[in-house]
Amino acid sequence: MTLEASKVTFGYRDRPVGTDLDLSIAPGSFTAIVGPNACGKSTLLRVLSRLLKPTAGAVLLDGKAIASMPSKQVARRMGLLPQTSTAPDGITAADLVARGRFPHQSALRQWSRADEAAVRGAMEATGTTDLADRLVDELSGGQRQRVWVAMVLAQETGLLLLDEPTTFLDIAHQIELLDIFAGLNDEGRTVVAVLHDLNQAARYASHIVAMRDGAIAAEGTPEEVISADIVERVFDLPCKVVPDPVSGTPLVIPLGRAQRRG
Ligand SMILES: Nc1ncnc2c1ncn2[C@@H]1O[C@H](COP(=O)(O)OP(=O)(O)O)[C@@H](O)[C@H]1O
Ligand SMILES: [Mg+2]
Repeated sequence: MTLEASKVTFGYRDRPVGTDLDLSIAPGSFTAIVGPNACGKSTLLRVLSRLLKPTAGAVLLDGKAIASMPSKQVARRMGLLPQTSTAPDGITAADLVARGRFPHQSALRQWSRADEAAVRGAMEATGTTDLADRLVDELSGGQRQRVWVAMVLAQETGLLLLDEPTTFLDIAHQIELLDIFAGLNDEGRTVVAVLHDLNQAARYASHIVAMRDGAIAAEGTPEEVISADIVERVFDLPCKVVPDPVSGTPLVIPLGRAQRRG
């Protein structure tokens, strides 16, 4: 499944964010979107997932404009984990995850074994089975985040759009979740994730898109994009880049105040 943004201009009523942006997500790729706060990463994901209509240009799924596709059809093919989501009051974790199955249901096709299996599988994969009967409001930030991820996994879409999926998680749960996404990617699912940790992005992604001021400042393989020059240009952060001793992918060492002491 190919997802493409073609010359999209997008933003909010009084705040343009990006102009004429082109982006192509290759089928089976793991794309990380990185960039400083407020550069437009979440807004771009909203455009890609049809939540926000571009004012010019189009988003194409396998060459077809998503604006003209019924929303259920879009939701069966791509799942979005927004950066912040509010659960309905008084909902349990299991019921929230079950909502991921809505796009697969219809008046004729009610809750099925396949739905049950998808929910169970998603909760097992995210380690949330034990939280099934808990109220989402009463979970810790990290537990809640994993329940939302389970909901998106239960949707069983070929394409996953994830906005900061690892925020609120401790380092072990971050890696666990990224490993889950990598496993899904190995099975052929296309993953697009906004990540703040450049080192994790370099390890997990096959393709990195670096954004600045609503535009794509650089894109390519981790080796191409995570260089001292580009990181400094995109984040205004002087740094060194060395090979990650475990994975060999680029590892960013910020200079910050340390350089002055050195
Ligand atoms: N709902 C909104 N209405 C108006 N402006 C918004 C809205 N959401 C985000 N913005 C603005 O759009 C710009 C891009 O925001 P966002 O896409 O959330 O950035 P990022 O995800 O890269 O941190 C920011 O200047 C932000 O303040
Ligand atoms: Mg954001």
